[in-house]
Amino acid sequence: MCALWRQESPRDPTFAALNRCFEDDWFLLPYELAVQRAHAKTLAVAGLLSAPEFAALEAALGEIERRFVGTGCPATDAEDLHTWMEEQLTARAGDAGRRIHTARSRNDQVATLTRLYVIDAGTGWARRLAAISAALCRRATGWADLALPLHTHQQFAAPGSAGLWALRYAVSFDRVRRLLVERLAEWRHDCPLGSGAVCGSSVPIDRRMQAEALGFERPAPNALEATTTRDDALELLAAGAQLGLHLQSFATDIIVYSQTPLAIVRYPARFGTGSSMMPNKMNPDAMELLRGESCGLQAAHGELLTLLKGLPSGYNRDLQCAKPLLHGAVERGSRLLDLVLAFVTELDFDAERAAAALRLGHVNATLRMEALVASGVPLRQAHHQVAAEVAASPDPATPLIEDPLSRYRTVGSAAPAEVRRVAAELLAALGVE
Ligand code: ARG
Repeated sequence: MCALWRQESPRDPTFAALNRCFEDDWFLLPYELAVQRAHAKTLAVAGLLSAPEFAALEAALGEIERRFVGTGCPATDAEDLHTWMEEQLTARAGDAGRRIHTARSRNDQVATLTRLYVIDAGTGWARRLAAISAALCRRATGWADLALPLHTHQQFAAPGSAGLWALRYAVSFDRVRRLLVERLAEWRHDCPLGSGAVCGSSVPIDRRMQAEALGFERPAPNALEATTTRDDALELLAAGAQLGLHLQSFATDIIVYSQTPLAIVRYPARFGTGSSMMPNKMNPDAMELLRGESCGLQAAHGELLTLLKGLPSGYNRDLQCAKPLLHGAVERGSRLLDLVLAFVTELDFDAERAAAALRLGHVNATLRMEALVASGVPLRQAHHQVAAEVAASPDPATPLIEDPLSRYRTVGSAAPAEVRRVAAELLAALGVE
């Protein structure tokens, strides 16, 4: 195994395999290059690299970038990405490669790579969430008049619209987006690089310059903290776990809406499959997979939380396990968000079936009660009166008032004008028309 430390005896082969993380690290290559560039510049300014050495490193980094970014992981026995990189730099730039690790440790390096990745991943999720919220707002505007029964306890409860339903998710996804935007500002504050192995380095380098070169506001204020914690990754995965909840509810709503005999959505065939045995089937698999895959987002948060629990201050090798965990969850989240965006664009409702469903379950009972309240009847009395009417109604398909939609159409959260207003407001906040 190629390592940055002195190896006096061979590793146990089972341990050696566990110890290496080069392949798991490969996704971090763009961040490793950025960190190397910022560090080389800082060392050059501090007079620790000569001008030709700095130029040789710059050229080598450019070459490595062109050759390896976006490609599959090369064959190597390097212990990790940092080890491979130093080997590559030394092969191309000689002594400059042997000097690059001055005033640095893999401990601050990996913390910095992780933070840069978390920032990019959070930005990617936030961008996808904005696109989904905007798409849902547009659909909500189009569906503001498409009435359907809303559920509580999985029973028909009151009249609403497909617009109100779509807006529910535009709001949920936007909340997760805003949470990410808030955390992104925090993650951009402190640069772990320069924290060294645990307490910085006695070699004087300009950490402020290094931080700025990587897009951070300042050097991390405490080297011990900066090399120990993975709060950034934990916060991203917490947002992912919360996002998972909304994805699961979204999936279940569609599954319920497309269920026989309700079938008030026109489930897009491009997102379903048939049965090998039952020719009548078209199953809502995309939504079932969305619901199933989202569990991984919640599990990743739980796993990272467990991994970090009780770790003492200072770098511990346990932290190596955080990287594939984080990477997997980020990729999964992105894939699921891409699926939702594509699905939302194609989803449609069956207005006639939705209107027919409104005749079931006395969904207009609350509106009738509120009409009585408007005419002066005390609420509790009106409630009892309507409950008695419901109980006495011979046919559950007989509405209690002539036009159950008339009142809902003008007042309340589900009123079409209100749905359009909220959708327009959210689109404006998202910066889209
Ligand atoms: N491969 C390690 C990781 O990614 C790098 C840090 C190792 N540091 C150490 N002192 N062993 O977490």
